Formats: sequence, C-alpha cells, structure tokens
Amino acid sequence: MKSLVTGGAGFIGSHVVGLLLSEGHDVTVLDSLASGYRENLGRFPEARLIVGDVRDLSLLRVAARGAEVIFHLAASVGNKRSIEHPRLDAEINVLGTLNVLETARDIGVRKVVFSSSAGVFGELKTIPISENHPAEPTSPYGATKLCGEKLCLAYANIYTPIEAVCLRYFNVYGVNQRYDAYGNVIPIFAYRLLRRECITVFGDGEQTRDFINVADVARANLLAAKSRGLSGAFNVGSGSRVSINALVTIMRETSGLDAKVLHAPLRAGDVRDSLADISAIRSTLGFEARVDLRSGLREYIDWAKTSLSGWAI
Ligand SMILES: NC(=O)c1ccc[n+]([C@@H]2O[C@H](COP(=O)([O-])OP(=O)(O)OC[C@H]3O[C@@H](n4cnc5c(N)ncnc54)[C@H](O)[C@@H]3O)[C@@H](O)[C@H]2O)c1
Repeated sequence: MKSLVTGGAGFIGSHVVGLLLSEGHDVTVLDSLASGYRENLGRFPEARLIVGDVRDLSLLRVAARGAEVIFHLAASVGNKRSIEHPRLDAEINVLGTLNVLETARDIGVRKVVFSSSAGVFGELKTIPISENHPAEPTSPYGATKLCGEKLCLAYANIYTPIEAVCLRYFNVYGVNQRYDAYGNVIPIFAYRLLRRECITVFGDGEQTRDFINVADVARANLLAAKSRGLSGAFNVGSGSRVSINALVTIMRETSGLDAKVLHAPLRAGDVRDSLADISAIRSTLGFEARVDLRSGLREYIDWAKTSLSGWAI
C-alpha cells in the first residue's frame, strides 16, 4: 500500500510510519517539523521525508503522488496552542485538511484516515462517551477538529471513491512524546520525576482520564486504512480510566523514583472524568487496546530517561 503520512515526524505519526514500514508498505511523510522531529524517523530511513506544509496544495499533490491512502495527522495540536493562535490553528487544521481532501480527490485516493480528537465533544455530559455524545467543542482546537471531520465525511459522501475514517483520540501517551510548552500530563510527570522535581496535581487528583498507548493508536490507523466501504467517526481510547492520583502512583512504581506531590486549584475548563465508549470501533474494525498502562508507562519512562535532554521546554 502506497501511503502519505502528514505529520509523520510527530509523536503519533512516527508510530504510524513505523507500523506501515514493518508491514512492508511504501511511505512518504510530509511534515513542516513545526512540532515534529527528524530523529523520530531516524530508525526509518526507508520513509521519504518531505519537509513542507499542508497549507501548500501543490506540494501536497507532489507528496501524495500515487498514494492509495493518506493518513492525515499534521495539525496545530492542543487547546492551549489554539487559544493562543486561533487563526493559525484554523489555517492548518481546517484549510490544511481541505487541501488533503482536494489532493485525495484529484489523484483518486481510496482512503483518508483523519486524526481527530475527543476535544470535539466539548463539555462532557455523560460517560462513557459514545460517538453520539453531543459535539459542542469549547476550544478553537476542538472546533477545527470537528470541522475537519465534517469536511472528511462530506468529501466521502460526495466524491466517490474517497472514503474517510476520522479517529477521535482520547489521551494518547508513549515513546516520542516530549514535554514541551503545550505538554500533556504523562510527559510532564515523567520530566518532573526524572529531574526529582515536585509534581503538581490540579484539584484533588481524583479526576479520571482514558489513556491509550500510541502503539494502539497506530494500529487503529492501519485498521481504518485497510477497511473497505467504511466512512465515519470513531472513538479511539482504551475503554478504561484511571485517576490522576493512581497515575502518579503507577509512574512512581514503574520508574522507581519518588517525587513530592503538590496540589494546585483546578484549572478552568478541565473536565472531571473522561472515558471512551469504544464499542463502535470494536464492532466495526475489531479494534481493542492491547498495551496495558503499567507496561506502556515502563517503556515510556525508559525512553524518557534517554531522551530528556532533547525536550524543548
Ligand atoms: N497526542 C494526543 O493525545 C492527541 C489527542 C487527540 C488528537 N491528536 C491528534 O493527533 C495528531 C498527531 O498529534 P501528535 O500528538 O502526534 O502531535 P505532534 O505535534 O507530535 O504531531 C503533529 C505533527 O504535525 C506537524 N505539523 C504541524 N503543522 C504542520 C503543517 N502546517 N504542515 C505539515 N506538518 C505540520 C508537526 O511538525 C508534527 O510532526 C494531530 O492531528 C492531533 O490533533 C493527538
């Protein structure tokens, strides 16, 4: 399968690239390196890296030449970044996605697999969160991801033979995830643990999250790509949740390190509980998360130990 992976030098994209190559597929990566790293692709010399922007339609056409599938992961990622740079967020996430779809239409791509986010749901009203939960995003990022999904599904509806599967990731963690200015909780905790600094927990720490390992997310991407006659939006989570307090305990145990925990007031906009209902992707694609949190965190901390000095904080 000839494929284009936009954002393939990023955290999740690099795992999609690795899995594709391990199955013998042909891979081109288009990445601006805005938040991605060349070294994420260091183990994959077979992947052709084109450094460029998804806002550049003519470059996208070159990068996608002959592709059967486009995995579209390139994005301005996260609520915080989108609140600081809402226009840039929309240009990359909406117009960039439109460019990917236009390219798919031009060259007759069979499938677009779009990386969406649980951020499309906005304020959570019920858990577990099924795909039918109201989608009322509360950040520009959630809004642009929802817009990206709607564009993908409209193209799949109108422009045969394009099919589009949108994957709504919950909290993804794993190797190649660095703590940067927009960091997620696991890289932040790992960074603090490894540097013997205090860990800050917001609120009482009993809020819960659905963490899914990046290897499982990569697998969901390939299952989506291989499906035939399927378009739609699907949750990608582990289907289980863990409290932030429990996460701290597991990270202490798996790292063998200890850190003092400080509590700070809850942050505005943080949801209390999050848990994916994964019955739709299970029944449609046979997807089930395989990596348990403890072993995933052990692998992650081992990697973080060796890479910490390169994190751009
Ligand atoms: N990490 C998570 O928990 C999570 C959760 C939900 C959704 N997602 C989605 O998954 C996808 C991958 O996210 P990630 O966590 O790997 O983040 P990441 O920042 O590591 O990956 C994004 C990649 O896109 C590239 N990029 C950014 N702007 C670009 C542009 N204009 N043109 C070309 N490339 C560009 C970056 O350089 C980077 O390599 C994103 O679409 C993100 O919205 C991630």
